[in-house]
Amino acid sequence: MERQELKCERQKSLLGNNTMGFKIVAKKYYEINALKDIDELIENNVFDDEKILILGGGSNILFKDEYFDGTIIHSNLKGISIDVDDDDDIETQRLGNSDTQGLITVRCMSGEIWKDFVDFTVKNKLYGLENLVDIPGSVGASPVQNIGAYGVEAKDSIEYVYTIDLTNGDRVIFKNEDCHFAYRDSIFKREENKKYFIVAVDFKLRRDGELKLDYGNVKDYLLKKNIVSPTLNDVADAIKNIRADKLPEVGVVGSVGSFFQNPIVDTDVFQKLKETYPDMPSYPNENGVKIPAGWLIDKAGWKGHKENHVGVWDKQALVLVHYGDGKPEEILHLMKKIQDSVKEKFDIEIKPEVNIV
Ligand code: EPU
Repeated sequence: MERQELKCERQKSLLGNNTMGFKIVAKKYYEINALKDIDELIENNVFDDEKILILGGGSNILFKDEYFDGTIIHSNLKGISIDVDDDDDIETQRLGNSDTQGLITVRCMSGEIWKDFVDFTVKNKLYGLENLVDIPGSVGASPVQNIGAYGVEAKDSIEYVYTIDLTNGDRVIFKNEDCHFAYRDSIFKREENKKYFIVAVDFKLRRDGELKLDYGNVKDYLLKKNIVSPTLNDVADAIKNIRADKLPEVGVVGSVGSFFQNPIVDTDVFQKLKETYPDMPSYPNENGVKIPAGWLIDKAGWKGHKENHVGVWDKQALVLVHYGDGKPEEILHLMKKIQDSVKEKFDIEIKPEVNIV
């Protein structure tokens, strides 16, 4: 197949590239269809003294201004290969064909859509990512913020992350432990690592999987449907339905999923809060106690709140929404008001989970 020519799109509308649905315009935009495109951009010094942003599906990003005065790089690298070997060359993708039991490596190029990739793994009876169904965004973004849902995080399956250093074109491979994954965090979020363009991700999946049903209401949902021994497909379907009930539909109502991170407080702070709020949900972890920000925002009275073109989703207070024709500053204004109100009521600071650029 002939290589698509690399082109620079100027004054590019990002309306279809941010799920918040704001009318953002970028000075320059490049779509990457081959690794050589990146080399070409480096050769032409495109990355020198420009403001660069690598943009995936735009489902976890909030542009502060309506004009992005810089260059957007968007991966359109496609391909999924089952059962790759560690020494398979990333530059010449190859499709594996062995059908071994147990662990299996699946390589997915960064421009694939995450939810389509998860559907592919479920269809192929590969266990590991089924709890992460229907999360919007691209595969390349999955390691960046270590996406997670229903007791599973991307880091549980990620084996390698293949990147290109945009400053010199070096191919750099990160092992799982090199990525320093944490709750919605990895080294790729650090300013100094924003130079790594993610090319592909290897996931270690299982043919003989065990399902994780302990989080939230997954088990209850399945029992209500009289499913006692769920299959991989049953779990994926259940989570799709649970999500659809709570979260706004992408492309219909503007949102970025969870707008805030769930705060982690010290155990003694939590104990005091629990005296005042005995029904406060909590998830103890190694750093303290995680409290759902959605619950805090809900208790502070924001659920279903609307102002101008934005608001707080009426089925999940962790989600801020844009109803159309609004501006980023409206969401930023609402964000600040919610943060202040949660701080005043509970003395807890909640931080945005969305990347604000
Ligand atoms: N809650 C309320 N009111 C609300 C929202 C939540 O009382 O308006 C309570 C719920 O009843 C529940 C608790 O808060 O007891 C937790 O709610 P939920 O199970 O919906 O999960 P979450 O903590 O709000 C996290 C992730 C989601 C992920 C779900 C399910 C973060 C920031 N968010 O939300 O991820 O889908 O768990 O695993 O960790 C995302 O990152 O965009 C995202 C949607």
